[in-house]
Amino acid sequence: MQHVFSEVSTAIPTINGTEAATWSGLIMVLSHFSFRLFSVLLSSIPFTLSSTAGTAAETELAFNTLQEWYSNDTGLWTTAGWWNSANCLTTVGDLAAVDSSVAPTVQKVFSNTLVQAQKANLQMQKVVTASFNVETFYGPVFPSNVVVPESTNTKGFLNGFYDDEGWWALGWIQAYDVTKNTEYLQTAMDIFNDMSGGGNTPCGGIWWDKAQTYVNAIANELYLSVAAHLANRLPNDQSNYLNIALKQWNWFENTGMINSKNTINDGLTKSCEPNNGTVWSYNQGVILGGLVELATASGDPSYLLTASTIASAAISALSNSSGVLHDPCEPNCGGDGSQFKGIFMRNLGKLQTVRPKDEFLGFIESNKDSILKSNRDSKNRMGVVWSGPVTEPATASSHSSAMDALVAALALGV
Ligand SMILES: *[C@@H]1O[C@H](CO)[C@@H](O)[C@H](O)[C@H]1NC(C)=O
Ligand SMILES: *[C@@H]1O[C@H](CO)[C@@H](O)[C@H](O)[C@H]1NC(C)=O
Ligand SMILES: *[C@@H]1O[C@H](CO)[C@@H](O)[C@H](O)[C@H]1NC(C)=O
Repeated sequence: MQHVFSEVSTAIPTINGTEAATWSGLIMVLSHFSFRLFSVLLSSIPFTLSSTAGTAAETELAFNTLQEWYSNDTGLWTTAGWWNSANCLTTVGDLAAVDSSVAPTVQKVFSNTLVQAQKANLQMQKVVTASFNVETFYGPVFPSNVVVPESTNTKGFLNGFYDDEGWWALGWIQAYDVTKNTEYLQTAMDIFNDMSGGGNTPCGGIWWDKAQTYVNAIANELYLSVAAHLANRLPNDQSNYLNIALKQWNWFENTGMINSKNTINDGLTKSCEPNNGTVWSYNQGVILGGLVELATASGDPSYLLTASTIASAAISALSNSSGVLHDPCEPNCGGDGSQFKGIFMRNLGKLQTVRPKDEFLGFIESNKDSILKSNRDSKNRMGVVWSGPVTEPATASSHSSAMDALVAALALGV
């Protein structure tokens, strides 16, 4: 318990809202503890659980279901793709940071995945569709119209796509935060080093891909976020990561990808104009976590105000009147789009810990409630439409994405 509480409090930047976040972490941990005690004593007696205790039990159940897809041999989650597995790693890492009962299992996942996933060496190629979703093809045999450039061949945690690399870097940083094992931090630094080679675009920022076909929001938000995360975790070597993160944000904010409604479009055209492409939830999410880390690293809380504005705009643009988050691809989001929404919730939760707003807390709670009520099948697997009914087949992508909303709710005590 002590270990969990110290994780919660040390992960929080020393800016506005620290005390509130620390207290909510403490309350969450205490009520989780009481739930475990009471559930042993009162298991056969009808008993109304507090919201947080209920969330803890449901989230642990969701974790056990997710792990049914985990392969020891590959260190990846079957039914989820390469970059999706990096997000599954982050999801279980986020849960381990606030729930000590799963931490030993999650630590085994970290150490196994570090060794095995690098060897799994998935041959793949990603294609941007007309709606700016992505379609990923996995080898070894590809459709005849899919060209696989040399640069996409996977090596370690690197491949031909800088966004995929960014997801793995963030997963290993979360593993480091939970364990303080510097091997995970070093892995993230090595991945970031490769990402920083993607910067020779005509538009500024980094390329999405090593084949240099597209400059988009996701790869560039991830580059910002990983740099800012590293700046905070390597304070003695801060200047470079912090400077990269600051430079990256100053560029990003002036590209026009953030539109007049404060939502973020998919990317830039070949002539470096905003392409007005689909407003996907994950592009509204990664930026929030990046700006939270940047506020801490730079000591400038104004980045949190920007993040708060983007978060509110995203909630307005992408949720139903009932306050449930939707992506425009639903219910047919494919293997990639089915991951998006959890990334928004994970990062909104991170923003809420440092710059709380009733709107955000209520949104996290209403999405958690909707998922638990309407989006689980008979095997407790969660689908891509959070307002239900559950879409089949539920995969490790759709399930881990919905689980991000549960983990965010648990961490915030709702
Ligand atoms: C996977 O590895 C863990 C830890 O070594 C072990 O407890 C579990 O039984 C293994 N699962 C399978 C299916 O081999
Ligand atoms: C995007 O929208 C803006 C504002 O409506 C417009 O000026 C611009 O031409 C559009 N860009 C593309 C690529 O359609
Ligand atoms: C709102 O939810 C309903 C039911 O799930 C869905 O059919 C509809 O597309 C949603 N609206 C938006 C804007 O996503």
